[in-house]
Amino acid sequence: MKPSKDAKNIHVVICSGTTCFLMGASELFGIEKTIEGSLASRITVEGSPCMNLCKGGSYGKAPFVRVNDTLISTATLPKVIEEIRRQASL
Ligand code: FES
Repeated sequence: MKPSKDAKNIHVVICSGTTCFLMGASELFGIEKTIEGSLASRITVEGSPCMNLCKGGSYGKAPFVRVNDTLISTATLPKVIEEIRRQASL
């Protein structure tokens, strides 16, 4: 089934600054290939320079990913996919 014209697009921004990249962000690129077709077509994925969220005590919470306005820390593929599905169902 095709997504309706009104289906909300989901913008995924993956921090690819050094800290996030080393902490696992590199494994998150290509996420749209791990998601089923109709949902994947609604997703745009882009990298971002350091979001300045990894400073000070937040170092251990990298990698950071934004799914529209929702920030995910210690992002993993399952966590990001879960948030994408949650937003897709809104
Ligand atoms: S490298 Fe990702 S927030 Fe700094």
